[in-house]
Amino acid sequence: MAVDMKGKDLISIHDLSREEVDQILDTTHILKMKQKLGEIYHPLKGKTMGMIFQKSSTRTRVSFEVGMWQLGGYALFLSANDLQLNRGETIADTARNLSRYLDGIMIRTFSHQDVVDLAEYSSVPVINGLTDLLHPCQVLSDLFSIREKKQNLEGLKLAYIGDGNNMAHSLMFGGAKTGMHVVICSPSGFEPDPEVTRLSRLDASKTGATITIQDDPVEAVKTADVIYTDVWTSMGQEEEYEKRLQSFKRYQVNNTLLENATEDVLVMHCLPAHRGEEITNEVIDGPRSIVFDQAENRLHVQKAIMALVM
Ligand code: CP
Ligand code: NVA
Repeated sequence: MAVDMKGKDLISIHDLSREEVDQILDTTHILKMKQKLGEIYHPLKGKTMGMIFQKSSTRTRVSFEVGMWQLGGYALFLSANDLQLNRGETIADTARNLSRYLDGIMIRTFSHQDVVDLAEYSSVPVINGLTDLLHPCQVLSDLFSIREKKQNLEGLKLAYIGDGNNMAHSLMFGGAKTGMHVVICSPSGFEPDPEVTRLSRLDASKTGATITIQDDPVEAVKTADVIYTDVWTSMGQEEEYEKRLQSFKRYQVNNTLLENATEDVLVMHCLPAHRGEEITNEVIDGPRSIVFDQAENRLHVQKAIMALVM
């Protein structure tokens, strides 16, 4: 039975029901097949989505823009530098105005609260394209990528090695919602947000997943089905770069670490990678890496999200 998601915001995987997550992943499969078969499919004909970017992007911008076009709609790139938002117009007024022109808004920004506020004052769906707290579209794509390779998610174990950042948080919510065990392995002082940990454990208690936080990479990867990593210094943290290099040096995903993992473990990274820091060339370009499949799936998953909510 399909769940009606029309008009729904996509701000956090925590806000989605298990059925909604499954529906996004199942719709992705159908849209990806259509795309591969060259079938024209225009459910969003005549619809327009605005994309506000307060941070840089390669994958998110291109995959949303191309995805919208492939669905028959139109996407506008709105650089925050050129919006009145940057000159003090409020988020609420921006939302009220943009809702009069657009059928959906995608936003990438710093403060998570800004996205929550934008959604509150917008009458059209708002999609979170990354905040300092969360990156749900990336993780929905990652869940799809893992399911593609391993057939299911339930009972698998994902070991995330690195910063307890937006990626770690969304992976915790994604795993919790779908029954996949998530181990977050971070150095002391860089653990995930306590409230995200609490909420993801609450979600996990309903699906049989576990959310574990520890600090030993070797232990974390031993029985993992998936090893995931992300940059040590996220957008907005550039001033901490040198300090973070020191704190994270034991947390590199390299061939020595992979010797502790199984032969068929998948290696994932949301990209962009800082090669030689959190991951080595030999691993990211090696046989266990699925990073470019992940990147491709952003397109298919976001098409599914847009088609479902707009
Ligand atoms: N993974 C991801 O969101 O990439 P971009 O920053 O290039 O959009
Ligand atoms: N944690 C990274 C993810 C980039 C897609 C950042 O926020 O910069």
